Amino acid sequence: MPSPQPRTAVLCGTGSHLPPRRVDNDELSRVLDTSDEWIRSRTGIGARHWADPGTTTSDLAAAAGARAVADAGVSEVDAVVVATTTPDRPCPATAPVVAGKLGLTGVAAFDVAAVCTGFIYGLATATGLIAAGAARRVLLIGAETYSSILDPADRTTSVIFGDGAGAVVLRAGEPGEPGAVGPFDLGSDGDGVDLITVRGGGAEQRLSGREPEPGDRYFAMAGKSVFWQAVRNMSKSARAVLDQAGWRVDEVDHLVGHQANLRILNRLADDIGIPRERSITNIAEVGNTSAASIPLALDQARAAGRLRAGDRVLLTAFGGGLTWGSTTLTWPEQATTRTEERT
Ligand code: ACO
Repeated sequence: MPSPQPRTAVLCGTGSHLPPRRVDNDELSRVLDTSDEWIRSRTGIGARHWADPGTTTSDLAAAAGARAVADAGVSEVDAVVVATTTPDRPCPATAPVVAGKLGLTGVAAFDVAAVCTGFIYGLATATGLIAAGAARRVLLIGAETYSSILDPADRTTSVIFGDGAGAVVLRAGEPGEPGAVGPFDLGSDGDGVDLITVRGGGAEQRLSGREPEPGDRYFAMAGKSVFWQAVRNMSKSARAVLDQAGWRVDEVDHLVGHQANLRILNRLADDIGIPRERSITNIAEVGNTSAASIPLALDQARAAGRLRAGDRVLLTAFGGGLTWGSTTLTWPEQATTRTEERT
């Protein structure tokens, strides 16, 4: 009996959504001890979008998800996976809410929590669902409202993070066909738990017996320590996945790294040996959108006509946990030309 054809995930649609409120560096400089010059030179960020009161992560996710589903030309998926650090509520997960907003009640729906690496972990999870035969089509969304966890008085974090969502639809296909997601390299280091964290709101703080402190509800990051770990871990992981995929560095058409900081992205490209002009960056206009960063960058690059059928794309991310991960994909024909105008 012939062995069944192995199944893998194939990209067949993309979408994204940014909340309308654009906050530029000058606006932040009026309320914080910072400047456009400092923010641009240290991070490469010129502006970010923040959600208006009343908007939730599931709203942004549903808007991006609807676009990806329309782009893929499908009306149904078997699973909705949401990668996020800022779920609407600690319980339940945000994905079932998103599925409901998309009229997909009844499908499998769950969240992936890996902070800025969430989208790569989500891709691995979606690929696993498809390879196991548990789903034929998966809607994977990275969505964040970091503005809800930023301390407005903290200039070290407020200037960096933005809100937004990016989504992809993955279908069952064969390894090697255009759009197929390649091998994965995933890792973590829990010793770094305190380097990128929101201390409050979880069982640890609730069961500690101590009263929560005001800062516990806010996101905190040891930026300097994290900077070099981000470069080292993404570069090591990216090389590992290139080895697994059998791609030479000079065969990579586009590097899409987690948009943490332009200086990190430049060092990353230099470290791997990829010319900086092959690195896709949108951080100047959206800041660091954590789990949304890679799918948002992919959708915007595609809208700008930068991603062409057959292009070899290397994806890599690093974030809280600590966590990191990389994968490869060949850009598909189906997701090259748009059938509709987007905003
Ligand atoms: N405006 C003006 N000055 C500032 C600001 C600001 N917004 N923020 C910090 N400073 C000051 C600091 O107080 C410090 O002053 P001091 O020397 O008097 O103490 C000085 O600028 C230098 O601060 P550093 O923290 O050393 O600045 P650095 O160049 O390292 O940049 C940054 C900080 C942008 C956070 C950088 O370290 C970084 O990008 N780190 C990595 C972030 C990352 O990759 N995170 C992982 C992914 S995100 C996630 O998982 C959620």
